[in-house]
Amino acid sequence: MTNYEIIKTCEDIDFNQVSEILKFYGLSDYDSSVQEKVFHNSYGVVFLKQEGKIIGVGRAISDGICQAQICNVAVRDEYRGNGLGKVIINELLTQVKGCTVVLYTHPKHHGLYEHWGFSRLKTAYVLFQNEEHYREEGFI
Ligand SMILES: CC(C)(COP(=O)(O)OP(=O)(O)OC[C@H]1O[C@@H](n2cnc3c(N)ncnc32)[C@H](O)[C@@H]1OP(=O)(O)O)[C@@H](O)C(=O)NCCC(=O)NCCS
Repeated sequence: MTNYEIIKTCEDIDFNQVSEILKFYGLSDYDSSVQEKVFHNSYGVVFLKQEGKIIGVGRAISDGICQAQICNVAVRDEYRGNGLGKVIINELLTQVKGCTVVLYTHPKHHGLYEHWGFSRLKTAYVLFQNEEHYREEGFI
């Protein structure tokens, strides 16, 4: 699939669509105005857009030098399995080149990130907001 744009800024992005995609997967519940701040405050962002429709998103928080975290990677349901997730990850990795990159994901996606070259971290610790939810979902 090649007929889409890769956008690396928050300008002219319809955050209603971003919010809709992230809510659909339960990745983030924020409405569009909060989601706009979340992405705007991130070090790196990627939006895949096809004819005005946002079809994939992702972002990285980082110091831009040595440490980064990738978050909120999602591809619209009907576009999954076309290599777009990999495009988003690769674009974010380029934006934080030189950094150690961490991410956490739902337990069902471990295989996917290993497929993309990530290794399981044996020594990570986390303080989750809403810890109960993450415990129930098998993150901790
Ligand atoms: C995760 C997600 C972003 C992947 O996007 P996608 O566009 O469907 O993924 P791609 O088509 O780029 O890549 C899928 C690749 O991973 C492989 N794969 C998928 N699930 C896998 C698994 N559990 N274990 C190993 N490999 C897996 C596929 O075989 C495919 O391999 P290939 O590139 O060699 O053909 C997408 O499925 C999504 O939006 N999921 C819901 C939101 C979500 O859970 N996001 C992750 C939050 S961190």
